Amino acid sequence: MSKALTAPEGVTWKSRWTFILAATGSAVGLGNIWKFPYITGEYGGGAFVLTYLACILMIGIPVMIAEVMIGRAGRSNPADAMSRLAKESKRSSYWGLVGVAGVLSGLMIMMFYSVVAGWALDYVAQSASGAYSDLDAEQIESNFGQLLASNGQQLLWHSVFCLLTASVVAAGVTKGIGKAVDILMPMLFVCLLLLVGYSAINGDFAAGLHFMFDTDFSRLNGEAILVAMGHAFFTLSLGMGAIMAYGAYFPGHSSIGKTVLTIAALDTVIALLAGMAMFPLVFANDLVPGQGPGLMFVTLPIAFSNMSGGLFFGTLFFTLVSIAALSSSISLIEPGVAWLERHGFNRPLATFGLAGTAWLGGIASIHYEAVFNALDYLTANVMLPLGGLLIAIFVGWQMPAPRVLDETGIVSSRVFSAWRFLLRYIAPLGIIAVFLHSLGLLTW
Ligand code: TRP
Repeated sequence: MSKALTAPEGVTWKSRWTFILAATGSAVGLGNIWKFPYITGEYGGGAFVLTYLACILMIGIPVMIAEVMIGRAGRSNPADAMSRLAKESKRSSYWGLVGVAGVLSGLMIMMFYSVVAGWALDYVAQSASGAYSDLDAEQIESNFGQLLASNGQQLLWHSVFCLLTASVVAAGVTKGIGKAVDILMPMLFVCLLLLVGYSAINGDFAAGLHFMFDTDFSRLNGEAILVAMGHAFFTLSLGMGAIMAYGAYFPGHSSIGKTVLTIAALDTVIALLAGMAMFPLVFANDLVPGQGPGLMFVTLPIAFSNMSGGLFFGTLFFTLVSIAALSSSISLIEPGVAWLERHGFNRPLATFGLAGTAWLGGIASIHYEAVFNALDYLTANVMLPLGGLLIAIFVGWQMPAPRVLDETGIVSSRVFSAWRFLLRYIAPLGIIAVFLHSLGLLTW
């Protein structure tokens, strides 16, 4: 019994709002500002955006409610929370392995995430020192190429970012993150709005909006749908237990539904704003929207280099991107740290062990683009949806409905039924259909 009461048990966020900020801090990250705009570019715009929104609504939000519920009801790290709830429901405690697999997914994401966050840190330094302020568009493009060609430079910033992440996690989540996100998330939001404004004035805003919202479904292939679904998981930090781990600190017994809707809405709005800040500039500068991962690191510097106050805005923007990345990366290793802590490791040791592992993997993704791409593709498009599928099945089919109803705290029986329907049928079938399709076993 005494063991069951160590670590996360008893620790809670100060209020429901702190949970919202921490979860939003986890959700809003490179996925919104770096990845979403460039995959929208690669997969052709509007139809992709609509598919992504549908995935958020029908799969992402239901799974997120399930994750928060598991964390709060199990009051422990994802692995132990799931096996505890499984035993309670007279199911196999092997369900805890979903949480263990999540620890691995988190590490694998961190192995490329921290490299990209390192690029953002590098661009803070470049912006502050005016490195790209007098360059033309082409030079700025090759400037990014130079960073990618310099393993030493990437290693430096990747290491700095891993250290930053580890120091925050080692110091404990509740202390640091809550306060930090409280100030930083609104700042990020204001800064993005300023950039959208700049983009509306100086960019080809109409072309940008057309690109993001004109829907031409003929451009939507199976791969695009898989990527849209994978991104819905990635951007909401789902499928690996990050939100579950945070849910373990959720105070009180209030309804989870509205809380989750708030987080998902903030995350989605920020992703759309990031697109609206970038695409108009892409079109105004005759760049191609489908150019891939370099989108943020090329188009925005081009904009800043032409902009009065560009040094200041550039520095601010990349600082905020780095911070958004930090509040996300923390949640990538927190589940593993909480898990190890629960099984006898002290927190700093667990943190530096996991961060060190991710750091090593990051070195591999710096040196081999194939490793970088494989980690990104495998986690977002396979491991997270698979984790989400198992979580949906667990809560939808393994836990008894009255217990689930009680633990979610959802008052309206209509809302509860709708959520449970999505979780039991739509989310699993949707995920399976997309998987089969991407394996070529199902065509539409
Ligand atoms: N959601 C974050 C982003 O969009 C990334 C992230 C943080 C994440 N924690 C996660 C993704 C857990 C999947 C699972 O940048």
